This record gives sequence, C-alpha cells and structure tokens, in this order.
Amino acid sequence: MEVIIRKDVTEYMRHLKEWLMETAGNDLEEMSEFFSSRLEEYEEHMSIWKNAYYKFAGLLPEKCENILDLGCGTGLELDEIWKINPKIHVTGVDLCQDMLIRLLEKHGDKNLKAVCADYLIYDFGESKWDAVISFESFHHFMPEQKAVLYQKIYRGLKEGAAFILGDYIACCMEEEEILRNTYMEKRRKCSIPEGKNVHFDIPLTLEHELELLKGTGFLHAGAEGSIEGATLLIAKKE
Ligand SMILES: C[S@@+](CC[C@H](N)C(=O)[O-])C[C@H]1O[C@@H](n2cnc3c(N)ncnc32)[C@H](O)[C@@H]1O
Repeated sequence: MEVIIRKDVTEYMRHLKEWLMETAGNDLEEMSEFFSSRLEEYEEHMSIWKNAYYKFAGLLPEKCENILDLGCGTGLELDEIWKINPKIHVTGVDLCQDMLIRLLEKHGDKNLKAVCADYLIYDFGESKWDAVISFESFHHFMPEQKAVLYQKIYRGLKEGAAFILGDYIACCMEEEEILRNTYMEKRRKCSIPEGKNVHFDIPLTLEHELELLKGTGFLHAGAEGSIEGATLLIAKKE
C-alpha cells in the first residue's frame, strides 16, 4: 500500500522552516522535564490524534494477552486498547514519573505494570510479548539508538508476534536532514553529554524507518496509513 505522509509537503516545509527560525535560540530541555512541565495540557495537545489512537488500537492481533508499551506516557493509546480488550495485561515503560502517575490515576483498575525507566536501557526479555507497541515516542532518537532498540524489541517478541509503531515520519529527505542537523547543532551548542535524553523531534523518512526495521530482523515491515502526521507501521517477527 502506498502511504502518503503529508499531502501538503511544500506548505508544511515552509512552516517547519519558519518554526526552526523562531526557535533557533531555544535550548534543549531534558526529556522527562519537558513532559512533566506540560502535563496539564498534554492530553488536549495530543487530541489531534484521536482517530490515529483508535486505528492504532485496532491493529493489535485478536489473541493478545500481554503487551509492552514503550513511552506509554499517560496512556492515550491504552485508553483505546482497553476499550477493545479490557483484560489485556500491559507493561508500560516511560521515563517520566509524572506521566506514569497520571496513567495510574486513569487506569489503576487495569492489568497494568508501570515501569519508570529509559527504554533504551530497560531489558525487554526474550520471546515474552504478544505485541510491543509505541506511539509518538521513538522519533526523538538517532537511527543508531533505534537500531539497538529494534533489536531488543525483536528479541522480546514471541515468534509470529508484532511490533506496532505509530510515529512521526519525515515527509521528505529535506525534513529528515534539517531536523537532525538542527538537533546535533543544538546538542553541541548546549554541551549536552552523550547519553542524556533531550526533547527534539528527529523523524526518519518512511524509507529509512523501514530499512532500519528490516535491518534489525523485521523482514515483514510495512506502513498501514498515516493520520495527521502519525504513521502507523506493523513489523512482524517471523
Ligand atoms: C509524545 S509522548 C507519547 C506518550 C503516549 N505514547 C501517547 O501517545 O500519549 C512521548 C513519551 O515518551 C516518553 N519517552 C521519551 N523517551 C523515552 C525513553 N528513552 N524511555 C522511556 N520513555 C521515553 C516521554 O517521557 C513521553 O511520555
């Protein structure tokens, strides 16, 4: 299926470049602090993806008992998943304690284990999960970091199980390059030490995202559609 990431690439790139100029002097914020300080308006801000969360939840296989959600935040994707499958057991990993507290306030009655950890470091185990999911989180990381993450996800999935990703995908090579160059320049300017997670969006093009997935073992990886800039992908362990 051919997936259109954005219909209005020229207009979109014009706005992006304007935004980059306006924010050129802004420093990078530490990842967890970034989300903590925006917690009150967070769910409203993400409501543009209401339909994407609904469609994302529908991509989970029918027989699915335990899933791992990486960068689960306050659980907007989980709100939809539990509507379909109220009994599903979820392990949600997020490095922002405040986001997890909000998730537990909403879903304390569910089969939920909330883990406050960096998923780049956290061990996902081996052949353990019916599905691994992530929505709007991985686009903050460099391809080399994502390659290691995808290998861990592949190892953690049961045979035949799926990794389901909903994420910000760059609409063209220029977007991928301009954001990555800006990010690296800001890290250098702010003397951010290696290994420290900071908030800045560095999406890959669909072609590069799929190459990365296939290079880490997910030979059957493909896009299911794109809604308001959130592209939905399924990668199977086969
Ligand atoms: C844009 S929010 C998305 C949250 C949720 N998936 C949703 O769609 O509402 C990104 C989340 O990823 C988390 N995150 C970013 N990097 C992370 C990392 N290395 N380990 C764990 N969580 C991370 C952030 O703390 C934040 O809660």
